[in-house]
Amino acid sequence: MNDSFDLSPPALHVLPPDAPLAGASTARRAALLALARSEPEAKVAAARALATSRLPIGADESLTPSDWPGRPERPRLVSPRELERRSMSSVAGRAALLHALAHIEFNAIDLALDAVARFDGLPEAFYRDWLGVAGEEAFHFTLLQDRLAALGHAYGDFPAHDGLWEMALKTRGEVLARMAIVPRTLEARGLDASPPIRAKLAQAGDHESAAILDVILRDEIGHVAIGNRWFRHLAARAGVAPLALYESLAQRYGAPRPKGPFNLAARRQAGFDDDELAALTGEPNRTSAGALVGRVGGADDDAR
Ligand SMILES: [Fe+2]
Ligand SMILES: [Fe+2]
Repeated sequence: MNDSFDLSPPALHVLPPDAPLAGASTARRAALLALARSEPEAKVAAARALATSRLPIGADESLTPSDWPGRPERPRLVSPRELERRSMSSVAGRAALLHALAHIEFNAIDLALDAVARFDGLPEAFYRDWLGVAGEEAFHFTLLQDRLAALGHAYGDFPAHDGLWEMALKTRGEVLARMAIVPRTLEARGLDASPPIRAKLAQAGDHESAAILDVILRDEIGHVAIGNRWFRHLAARAGVAPLALYESLAQRYGAPRPKGPFNLAARRQAGFDDDELAALTGEPNRTSAGALVGRVGGADDDAR
């Protein structure tokens, strides 16, 4: 036997930190490759590596992500009407709920990666923000996947629906619309939805799952804040008042109209102002003389 043979196991710790990024030369190209990965483990590993990657961004390169990111064969995608509602008091009911949340997080990884890969010519901080979001969505997915495993289930065990990605497709041509509809409408709805779901889990005695909802809500406030920051930055760049712009984009793109009860504290923390919250709840904002006066150009400062 040849003495020079090294039979020790491969030293994984010496792999470069960007190994899951498949040797891409820029972070945006790596995001494009991560989008195409269909196995959850590979997509999660790539998203988490990208969040801390030092790869150059490649902001000016025009890339064309596929309209359909890589997805595993399961879950089976069905119309929302086909999804059963189940009681939180049974393990199967809670597993179905956690599965629905895991599916949202899986889509959210792709939504963040798509914002990075699809839109070029933006400041480096835009890309770093959304890469950070992709990493957090991957973390949320992993938390839910592990909790599902503890309940005897796995991602793919229940059917799921595809509503989130439809909005990504509709807004693929315009970064302002993407910011208006995805973080500021859909993720913001998640802020409203979280407390009642958390309460049901806690009431059923499932404190482990409730604790995961706490982590997700904390991070999602940050994601909506990032959406707000870039929406205001881009609105200021276009010289348009954010509230009026949001209303017109929401109408043009058929954004779902948020229904209460609203998590106003979380929305405020995420950067919605009094006028925006008043427009949401339909109550006049008495703290401001007018919703649109003096807003143009004032929001650019908070974008890094
Ligand atoms: Fe998330
Ligand atoms: Fe998010």
